[in-house]
Amino acid sequence: MAKRIQHLLQDKVVDGQVTVQGWVRTRRDTGSFSFLEVNDGSCLANLQVIADEKLENYGREICKLGAGCSVEILGTLQESPAKGQDVELLAEKIAVLGWADPETYPLQKKRHSLEFLRSISHLRPRTNALGAVARVRSQLSFAVHSFFKQRGFVQIHTPIITTSDCEGAGEMFQVASGDGEKEPFFGKPAGLTVSGQLQAEVYAQALGQVYTFGPTFRAENSNTSRHLAEFWMIEPEMSFCDLSCDMELATAMLQAVIGDILASCPEDLVLFDRFIEKGLLKKLRKVLDADFVHITYSKAVAMLEKQAADFQYPVSWGIDLQSEHERCLTEKIYKSPVIVTDYPSSIKPFYMRLNDDEQTVAAMDILVPGIGELVGGSQREERLDILTKRMTAAGIDLQEYDWYLDLRRYGTVPHAGFGLGFERLVQFVTGMTNIREVIPFPRTPGFAPC
Ligand code: 4AD
Ligand code: MG
Repeated sequence: MAKRIQHLLQDKVVDGQVTVQGWVRTRRDTGSFSFLEVNDGSCLANLQVIADEKLENYGREICKLGAGCSVEILGTLQESPAKGQDVELLAEKIAVLGWADPETYPLQKKRHSLEFLRSISHLRPRTNALGAVARVRSQLSFAVHSFFKQRGFVQIHTPIITTSDCEGAGEMFQVASGDGEKEPFFGKPAGLTVSGQLQAEVYAQALGQVYTFGPTFRAENSNTSRHLAEFWMIEPEMSFCDLSCDMELATAMLQAVIGDILASCPEDLVLFDRFIEKGLLKKLRKVLDADFVHITYSKAVAMLEKQAADFQYPVSWGIDLQSEHERCLTEKIYKSPVIVTDYPSSIKPFYMRLNDDEQTVAAMDILVPGIGELVGGSQREERLDILTKRMTAAGIDLQEYDWYLDLRRYGTVPHAGFGLGFERLVQFVTGMTNIREVIPFPRTPGFAPC
């Protein structure tokens, strides 16, 4: 059984022979030896392999190994005299599993731009940076699940194909059967979900505390560094919970997953701190200690109006905050994550709870430096009469949402939840400025190569 390089480097001393499988990053020849840097994706570090010219296939094969070739090595781990590594593998046998022609293999030793790597999304996880992103993304996903598990939440797999448009923004991709159907496959128009919230609310009203974590889709034509047509969202929903309990949960979750990643992926984060965002580690540690700033939308607008900054979109009460405004709040004014609450009802979806002023809703967005909106959530409207009024005003067919209204007819309770864009979280944690770098195969307008 082959050993993972991560474990070899951690354990350092191994008795007897070990087998390692991986891909060559570089080969260097000196005198009667070659040094191979081998990586198997289990960690950032390579394992140094020493190949003696006495090996049976040295002249025939080992001397021709280069970036991208796959190998299986049998050898003995020994202490390394070289700086920067504790151990190295003295090879006794090296089998070449697959060659990679250096004339055509796109990943040569030099550093490639992230834009170029995007054009070869099937090869880019083999680079240090994109491999690290994949490991960090996976760890963050585990951290999210364990956070909810520890708090007794039940995970709900909400549907991907749905007939309800949660956000009501008309950004749903339509789903059809593909055989030129005369009748809609599901009896009525269906699409890919923009959010699992409405279905999560159903389960919250039965199980108390639930969450869904799955792919969501938006057919919005925004070609920005923070938008994808297919992205993953984490959506908890809690009964017997108001806006402040919602904010508490979101803050605790962010702190828990960031604490986890700092402890679990230190080497990958150091790489990002050095090459992707200087000061990243400091920024992440600050999130653990600092209380987030809380301000109302009205206060945020007042603060922004005072800024001399000439925004592309002018600020006044009633506008939806644009990315430039969100970033001004987090990067310039407060230099910290900011939770903005109580937005005008006119710019928020029907399900958000109307405040007593009848102008604003019990909404909260968490904004973070470098990204802007990371979380969007609210207390939900649990009062049947007010909800039906808002839905009617929004032009929603009440018949279609009768099931949703039933939740208010039978045992309604105050409840709240939020949605956290998983890719934006991965962006925040890795420092990647473009969201296309933090999902394996990004889907954006005009782009879905495989
Ligand atoms: O603010 P949004 O639209 O909220 C909802 O969908 C609610 N139903 C969630 C809930 O309360 N359960 O989206 C939530 C988050 C945003 O804050 C953002 O982080 C992310 O999802 N998001 C996107 N991420 C990548 N690409 C897009 N096109 C995104 N749209 C939203
Ligand atoms: Mg939002």
